[in-house]
Amino acid sequence: MAKDVIIACDFSSSEATLNFLDRFEGGRKPFVKIGMELFYGAGPEIVRQIKSRGHRIFLDLKLHDIPNTVRKTMKVLSALDIDMCNVHAAGTVEMMKAAVEGLVREDGTRPVIIAVTQLTSTSEERMHDELLIGGALKDVVVKYASNAREAGLDGVVCSPLEAGMVKEACGSGFVTVTPGIRFADAAADDQVRITTPARAREIGSDYIVVGRPVTAAEDPVAAYERCCREFLGEN
Ligand code: C5P
Repeated sequence: MAKDVIIACDFSSSEATLNFLDRFEGGRKPFVKIGMELFYGAGPEIVRQIKSRGHRIFLDLKLHDIPNTVRKTMKVLSALDIDMCNVHAAGTVEMMKAAVEGLVREDGTRPVIIAVTQLTSTSEERMHDELLIGGALKDVVVKYASNAREAGLDGVVCSPLEAGMVKEACGSGFVTVTPGIRFADAAADDQVRITTPARAREIGSDYIVVGRPVTAAEDPVAAYERCCREFLGEN
C-alpha cells in the first residue's frame, strides 16, 4: 500500500471546496477526504466533481447500522468510484463483513475500507462510565482493530501514537490512517494527541490525514508539499 498525505477538506460548501482544490491544478493532485458535513450538504455530486478532477477520495462517513443497511449503502458508495471509506468497528464483525460485501464491484474491485476503533474524542473515563466498556482504552482499540481484520477490512483510523500497537497486533500490512498531524512549529488547535508528519512516518502510519495545517495555511500548496516532503521523505 503506497503511503500518502490525505487533505481533510472540511469545508461547508462545494464552492469553497472546489475553489480550494483549484489551487492544486497543474501540480500533484492531493488525496482528498470528504466528511459528513460536506457530503450531507453538497450530496454525491461533490464526489463526482472532485473525482473528475483526478483526485483520489476518502469518503469519511463512518457507517454504523444493521448489516443489511450497511451492505446496501456501501454498494451505493462504491458505485461513486471512491477510493477509501469507513465504518465504526462497534457495529460488530458481522456488520463489517456486510460492508465489505457491499463494496465489491462487478469487476471484483472495491475501495479500501477501514474502521474507526474508539473516537479520539472518547476518553477512557467516558468509555467506562457511559459506554460501560471496561479495561484500558488502548486494549479496546487493539481488539476492535483485530475484529476489523477478522472481518476482512484493510485497516483502521487511529491516533498516530496507536499505529505501532495496531501494526503489532494486526500485521504490518494492516493499514493505519492517522489524523492529529501538526508541523513542529505550529499550533495544536483542538487536537490533543498530535504528532508531526516526519514522526508519523517513523511510527509507521500509512496515510496521514491533515486538515487545518493545509486548509488554513497562507499557502496551502506549499503546506501540502511540506507534508509530503516530511511524511514521504521526498525532496
Ligand atoms: O484540521 P485537522 O488536521 O485537525 O483535521 C483532522 C481531520 O481528521 C478532521 O477532518 C477530523 O474530523 C478528522 N479526524 C480526527 N480524529 C479522528 C478521526 C477523524 O481528527 N479520530
